[in-house]
Amino acid sequence: MDSNGHPPKATCQKVLILILFQLGLSAIFFSYTRISVKPDLGNPVPVMLHPPKHLENSLPLDKQSSKLTILLWTWPFGTPFLIKKCSQLLGIPDCYITADRSQYQKADAIIVHHRDVCSSPKRLPQEPRPLLQRWIWFNMESPTTSPNLGLMDNHFNLTMSYRRDSDIFTPYGWMEALSQPQNITIPHKSKLVAWVVSSWKPGTHRVKYYEELKKYLQVDIYGQHHLPLPQGKHLSTLSQYKFYLAFENSIHEDYITEKVWKNAFHAGAVPVVLGPPRKNYELYMPPDSFIHVNDFPSARELAKFLHELDRNTTRYQSYFHWRSWLKPFGEFSWAIHFCKACWALQKKPIQYQTVPELSKWFK
Ligand SMILES: *[C@@H]1O[C@H](CO)[C@@H](O)[C@H](O)[C@H]1NC(C)=O
Ligand SMILES: *[C@@H]1O[C@H](CO)[C@@H](O)[C@H](O)[C@H]1NC(C)=O
Ligand SMILES: *[C@@H]1O[C@H](CO)[C@@H](O)[C@H](O)[C@H]1NC(C)=O
Repeated sequence: MDSNGHPPKATCQKVLILILFQLGLSAIFFSYTRISVKPDLGNPVPVMLHPPKHLENSLPLDKQSSKLTILLWTWPFGTPFLIKKCSQLLGIPDCYITADRSQYQKADAIIVHHRDVCSSPKRLPQEPRPLLQRWIWFNMESPTTSPNLGLMDNHFNLTMSYRRDSDIFTPYGWMEALSQPQNITIPHKSKLVAWVVSSWKPGTHRVKYYEELKKYLQVDIYGQHHLPLPQGKHLSTLSQYKFYLAFENSIHEDYITEKVWKNAFHAGAVPVVLGPPRKNYELYMPPDSFIHVNDFPSARELAKFLHELDRNTTRYQSYFHWRSWLKPFGEFSWAIHFCKACWALQKKPIQYQTVPELSKWFK
């Protein structure tokens, strides 16, 4: 970064382009696209675009495949939700997605949500596995908050998580390209920095960083034991702020959650991120869409930079330029995740595949 705390803009691009090519995930399902910003809008930037709303009509389905049955072994965190049709959500052929365990023998695949089974191996299906049935390990939590991963070794055929090297990639959010450039509207700003914290754990990295930051900067904290944030007022409250502290609860590659996508981008606040390195974020979003705490030698320097941006409207607005050509999608939806699984199963030929040491991979 330069002395003003600007992130490096051009340095990582070659690496990123390489990584994007190497991902090879397009073969698995949605294709990744690299797109370039128009020269007048800034430096060209590779961004992972994901997934197109309307996929090609002509899907390379093997046969006139009959509807696949996908059994949700549990509702995630035990909470039922409305299963929407994948044809409506993603424009793909429908799967029969159900949480009715009597369908076990008929199911082409079962999705097992880690948190709901990790307390004991007995919580996994105990009946013999039908031939060719695929078990999908599903987890959106970080390794730090995913206990007993070792119990999952040698049971599963496919992985499904926010990690981009999962068989079924289910990130918390993504950028969608606009068909033509849009005028940017920035919500009216009357406040500086907000943070919503649901679980306040003293001594954690993010709380320590905040304790330091607050010496130099007023941060309004919402959540339990803090300012109230009523359900329907989420976006209208956060959008009054220029910045949002998108501090992840633990730091792991690709673990970039709704804190950035929903609380910051969707609300129209600039995210100040604490999480994996800047390079990792830049696979998901343009470099000038966020501020990374690692760009600064100390919390004090970050505070100084945010005050500078607060005083200089032109400079602050530069964090919105990307919005003329990209739209963030960050509404959390179990239904979309499961439809991605449906799509992946339709595309992926059945072949022997097993995940031997899940606990070694997911960390
Ligand atoms: C964007 O702003 C320009 C100038 O104010 C206006 O002419 C144009 O119609 C706007 N475009 C859209 C898509 O709103
Ligand atoms: C505000 O920022 C812009 C762009 O970084 C810069 O050109 C300009 O000189 C700054 N204005 C002031 C008053 O510092
Ligand atoms: C799925 O994994 C299990 C456990 O390793 C294995 O027994 C089974 O043959 C695999 N099935 C497929 C279709 O790969």
